[in-house]
Amino acid sequence: MGAAVKGVSIAVIGGTGLEEIFNTSEITNIGTPYGISYAISICKIQNKEVAFLPRHGRRHDNPPHRVNYRANIYALYKLGVERIIATNAVGAINPKFKPGDLVVPHDLIDFTRQRPLTFYDQAPVTHIDFTEPYCPEIRKILIEKAREVGTVHEQAVYVCTEGPRFETPAEIRMFRLLGCDVVGMTGMPEAVLARELGICYATICFVSNMAAGLSDRLTYKEVLEVSKAVMPKIRKVISEAILSLPEVRGCQCHLSAKLGRLEEK
Ligand code: HPA
Repeated sequence: MGAAVKGVSIAVIGGTGLEEIFNTSEITNIGTPYGISYAISICKIQNKEVAFLPRHGRRHDNPPHRVNYRANIYALYKLGVERIIATNAVGAINPKFKPGDLVVPHDLIDFTRQRPLTFYDQAPVTHIDFTEPYCPEIRKILIEKAREVGTVHEQAVYVCTEGPRFETPAEIRMFRLLGCDVVGMTGMPEAVLARELGICYATICFVSNMAAGLSDRLTYKEVLEVSKAVMPKIRKVISEAILSLPEVRGCQCHLSAKLGRLEEK
């Protein structure tokens, strides 16, 4: 699937509150078969080059259900990216989770409804393994670094809703019965698209609010206020995780597409 145009092996996808991350040397929009990606900055953390992509655009003007997830992930793939660290604001469904807590989910449930959800729309028919949706190697390092800055939940099920509205209390009760711990609007299809291209992907979430029915009315202002307060921690966790990642991947994420079809074309 296409060739790399530049050698940047690590990317950060910034969610709400993380529209800028590090000092930027270069900004680029990349053309893909799925449209043009949002502006991707190439930054440096010590001597490591990192691609930074604000998921909603630099001015945060794309709502979760309108983000062009395929263009974004494909653009990172074209840059040569092998690992993605994402951030997501989430509402807490698990009552033990509190605003400001960090969460590194280990599993997910997809309740989105109308987003293009795969790169494999045509032959060869490909069913990728998603038993472990988040890269175990990146998760382990994110957890280690997050422990150093505050409360982190190391096991959590993330449910992705379509949005852009927040959920109803009945929906949240249902998600709780299904075993979900946190809810957000942007974790899918991003995670699966990365896996389809063999890119490792994990996310560090922060709880911005208790989910609907677990507190008073939900406001976007509340989400933004918590994100502002937590962002220095998220930045620290991400930068330190990037510096601690081993040069060569020790996980199986890159094999999934190959194993997901019957024959190599
Ligand atoms: N629901 C969905 N997405 C969210 C929430 C929420 O409560 N908080 C932050 N993103």
